[in-house]
Amino acid sequence: MSLAFESHPATASGLAAQTTARTPVPTAVLMCPPTYFDVTYAINPWMDPSVPTDAARAVAQWQELRDTYTRLGIVVHEIEGVDGLPDMVYAANGATVIDSIAYTASFLYPERQPEAAAYSEWLARAGYDVVEATHVNEGEGDLLAIGDMILAGTGFRSTIASHREARRVFDREVVTLMLVRPEYYHLDTALAVLDARPGHELIAYLPSAFAAASRAELELRFPDAIIVDEEEAAMLGLNIVSNGRDVVMPARATRFAAALRERGFNPVGVDLSELLKGGGGVKCCTLALRGSNNLRGSNNLRGARVQGD
Ligand code: ARG
Repeated sequence: MSLAFESHPATASGLAAQTTARTPVPTAVLMCPPTYFDVTYAINPWMDPSVPTDAARAVAQWQELRDTYTRLGIVVHEIEGVDGLPDMVYAANGATVIDSIAYTASFLYPERQPEAAAYSEWLARAGYDVVEATHVNEGEGDLLAIGDMILAGTGFRSTIASHREARRVFDREVVTLMLVRPEYYHLDTALAVLDARPGHELIAYLPSAFAAASRAELELRFPDAIIVDEEEAAMLGLNIVSNGRDVVMPARATRFAAALRERGFNPVGVDLSELLKGGGGVKCCTLALRGSNNLRGSNNLRGARVQGD
């Protein structure tokens, strides 16, 4: 069952929200079902292989996320999981796709390294221009497109060399942000893009996850950002997907949801407690496909692109 915040009774802030109309941007994503999901190793502080996972529950929660996207008009494409790659469900790490260019991932830990080829093969087959990474980067976990730039995390996984590479590949300004707390090891665990339209950029973040200079950079560039508190950040409350109006997020992060409603967004809550055991949430399970021809609901994009070209 989807825990929809929108069903809550109108509050004073809810009424204010109606004055700010937000328009959803057509959005397409790639997801990987958690067929082989498990916690068999620990590469972030959330993972504890001694805590059992519930495979059926993980699948049910993931399906609920997928169906929530579909209900909101977000086009979902699926890639098959690979046996032996328990973290492949975290599709955000599979690559970075902007303007139909897919910059491949290159994972830091050997346990995840084979995922990069699985994702890049899917993206190549779907007709994206695949550019092989030569530096360690974990895709959209650390490279978040907003406006005409990319916010890029480093400190735990993706390297600064990969930020320079992304700058060349996408021909965009890349703003390096230093992460300092191990539980917020990817940028998308500490910072959420709410509105990516040039001129309307809006983010939410957890200031304590960043080094002082990066905090200053964020304050300067995003003076009206939403600041999320420690407790809700620790639910991976910032690990969300927004189409510019609907924000799919953990249902438990109610204060963040209220702040979103006040800014005119439509928060939609889901429960991904099983996938949280691997250190991932909504955004981690979701790779944005940004490009011209990916909004048709087909698992094989190649035909669609050939027709459109
Ligand atoms: N277990 C995975 C890892 O540590 C979780 C990845 C979460 N993904 C994300 N985009 N933050 O690599």
